[in-house]
This record gives sequence, structure tokens and C-alpha cells, in this order.
Amino acid sequence: MAEPTFRAPKGTRDILAPDSTRLRALVDEFALQASQSGFGEIISPIFEDLGVFKRLGESTDVVTKEMFDFFDKGDPPQQLALRPELTASICRAYAEHRPTPPWKVWYEGPQFRYEQPQAGRYRQFTQVGVEVLGTDDPQADIDVIVLGARFFESLGLRQVELALNSLGSPGDLGSRQAYEQALIEHLEQNRSNLSSQALVTLERNPLRVLDSKREQDSSVIAQAPAMVDFLDDESAAHFAAVRAGLDAVGITYEISPRLVRGLDYYTRTTFEFASASLPGAQNAVGGGGRYDGLVEDLGGPATPGIGFALGVDRILLACDSEGVFASPRSAVDAFVVDVTGGTEALKVCDLLRRAGIAADRSYGGRSMKAQMKVADRSGASFAVIIGEDEVAAGEVTLRDMGDGSQRRVAQSLLARELTEKRTR
Ligand code: HAM
Repeated sequence: MAEPTFRAPKGTRDILAPDSTRLRALVDEFALQASQSGFGEIISPIFEDLGVFKRLGESTDVVTKEMFDFFDKGDPPQQLALRPELTASICRAYAEHRPTPPWKVWYEGPQFRYEQPQAGRYRQFTQVGVEVLGTDDPQADIDVIVLGARFFESLGLRQVELALNSLGSPGDLGSRQAYEQALIEHLEQNRSNLSSQALVTLERNPLRVLDSKREQDSSVIAQAPAMVDFLDDESAAHFAAVRAGLDAVGITYEISPRLVRGLDYYTRTTFEFASASLPGAQNAVGGGGRYDGLVEDLGGPATPGIGFALGVDRILLACDSEGVFASPRSAVDAFVVDVTGGTEALKVCDLLRRAGIAADRSYGGRSMKAQMKVADRSGASFAVIIGEDEVAAGEVTLRDMGDGSQRRVAQSLLARELTEKRTR
């Protein structure tokens, strides 16, 4: 085959059927579970004012290196960016519309990050997620985490592990500062054992050193002080309530004191779902936490919030590796084979589709044999065969593709017959 002139841009993919059918089924399942938990869907713009995303943290890679930003054609031009995630957009929407709290929304859609592409890491990827704005009740944290954990279970995934941490409250600046001080001291004392990359991160954002996946940094990180030991009474009580709630419904988790997330807005509860069936660097299938200062940062009223986003592309890779959540069967019910020119196939397909029966046909006036081959390949349960004889009698020949049996049926009764067969 000749080399194509154009390919999908680096880090993006065309997702064709049946993979696209499977992705759609996964999103539909999430939508169902989120709406069963009282969340309404929010559909927000794919691009926003760049300023909305700057609030993710001036020292995060997502903001400094990975933003797809551009100027529009306005006068003066506005600087916009393709969204790298949805939490900031949703806080912007909350500040703009002031819905009655608690505001529970779910979402799905593409996100964009200019990352180095590799398996499970793309420049355009799909997330599903939820956010609850307007309550700091730990029950909301629990509800959100349970929804995520039960969703993974419902797909059949057994190797997804939940890591949990607390970063303290924004009002609790004292203990956060005390913790950062202790962490910096620890890292400075162990400079000689850290990778050169970790030393650069230490200058910019000491907390993020804990996120290093480099072998060389692992022992220094393992001995680092833990934020949970620095929490004030209120944050400690909040964290205890979250753990008790998860225990009450039997969700297992590991306290991971060094869990820091790649975005800067988190306060108190943070968590990550990782799949043990995926390679280390790309094993996070979802993550989230509290961001009690973000709405205010975006010009809205002081509003607590909690949520998560799950990476659909990675979840599907995890499903592949655990051998679960197969592609749903997407074949049509009936394939219409018309050897009289094609207009009969047009009429019968129209009739069947209007009756809710999935029907397809071939094009190009091909021979009976060629059309039967396509019918076979389509996976349809029935072929509806139409020749001159059938047309003259106002009938069709209905062929069961499973056992090869066939018989004549009046055209006027075909839709009813196929509906009955489908429900049987
Ligand atoms: P995040 O951890 O940046 O959090 O992304 C959530 C998930 O999206 C990751 O765990 C991963 O599965 C997937 N993901 C991220 N980047 C990529 C990529 N380049 N390619 C494929 N999958 C990727 C957030 O986005 C926060 N907004 C989550 C949140 C919601 N926090 C509070 N509410």
C-alpha cells in the first residue's frame, strides 16, 4: 500500500469500530452509573480562556509544557487553550452560573495534553468524570470514591488498586508550610542520592519530587516525611471520616502518604486508581480529590469541591490485559439482499429501520452470491432475499443465517416477524 499523504497528528488516533463501539459502551455504562448516583451531565466547551487553566498551577507540567494554546482572530485576540482536563472548566461554569449547591455533574469527552506519546499516553485522550461542588462533607468524598471503585468493578476489573492521601486544608496553611519545610529539609539532606531531574523539580515544586517514578529517587522518597502526620485536627477528622466510610462499604484502599497528584489545586482528600495489570509509568486509570479553593481562584464564591476523572483509553487497555469488557456485538439484525436493482432493498430497509430493526444492504447491484457473502460477513441473524418472484408475490425470502433454513414471508408481515424473533 502507498504511504498515505497525511496521518493523524502525533499522539492522536483514529478509533474505528469495533474499538469505538466498546469505548461508547464504556462511556454509556459510566453515564448510567453516574446518573443513578444523582449526577447530571455537563457539556462544556472544548476550549477555554487560557487563564482558566493557569489556575491548575504555574509550576505543573500541564500548564508550563503541555498546553495546546492559541490566539483567536478577535481584535484584540484572545488567548485560548484546548482543555487539558475538565475540573477547572467546571469550576469556571459554577462561578458563571451559580447553580444551587450541592451541584453534582458528570462528564465525558476529549482532553488535550502536549505530552511525549507512548502506550497509554496520548495528546488527545478521553476522560469520564464527576464533580460535586458546594459541600465539604466527607460523605461526598466517599460517595465519589465509591462510584469510581464500583465502576471499575462493574467492568469486571479486579486489579485496580485505590491509593488514598490527605493534603490538609487550604485554611490549614500552617501545617502545609510546616510539612513543606520538613520535606525540603529531607530532600536537601539527601541531594546526593536524588536524580538530576528530581533536583530540578526540587527547585520548582518540592512536593512533586514525591511523584518521581525514577528508581534512583525511590529510597529518598520512601523515607520522606508524610503530610498525614502534619494535618490539623479538622483535616485529620475529615480524613478519618473518609476512611471510615470506605470501610463501611467494604472498599479496600491503601493509605499512600506520598501520593501527590500532577495538578496543584488539591486540598485534603486525594486519591488515585492504578491498575496492577498496566506498566508502571502509565498505570493510573483515574484520580481525583478535593479542590476547596479552585472556584474562588476563578472569581467565584468560596466553594468546596471534590471529584475525579478516569482515563477511558487506559481503562480499555487494562480491560484488554485482564481479558474483560469485550466489545459488544454490533451486527445488524437483518441484511437485505436485493437482486432486482436495489430499490426493493431501499424500501425494505426503510420499513425495518422505522420499526426499530437494524438493517443493512449492499450497493452496486452485485450478484446474489456476492451479496450473500456480504450478508454473511455482516454478522446479521437474518438475510431478507428479494428477487423478481418475491416482488411479484409481495413477499420476501427470510433466511435464518444460523441454520440456513428459509421460507417466504409477506412483506407486510416482515417487520412484525423479525421483531418477534428478536425478542424470543
Ligand atoms: P489526572 O490525574 O491528570 O486528573 O487525569 C485523570 C486520568 O486521566 C489519569 O489517571 C489517566 O488515566 C488519564 N490521563 C491523563 N493524561 C493522559 C494521557 N496523556 N493519555 C491518556 N490518559 C491520560 C485530572 O484530570 C483531574 N481533572 C481529576 C479530577 C477531577 N480531580 C478532581 N476532579
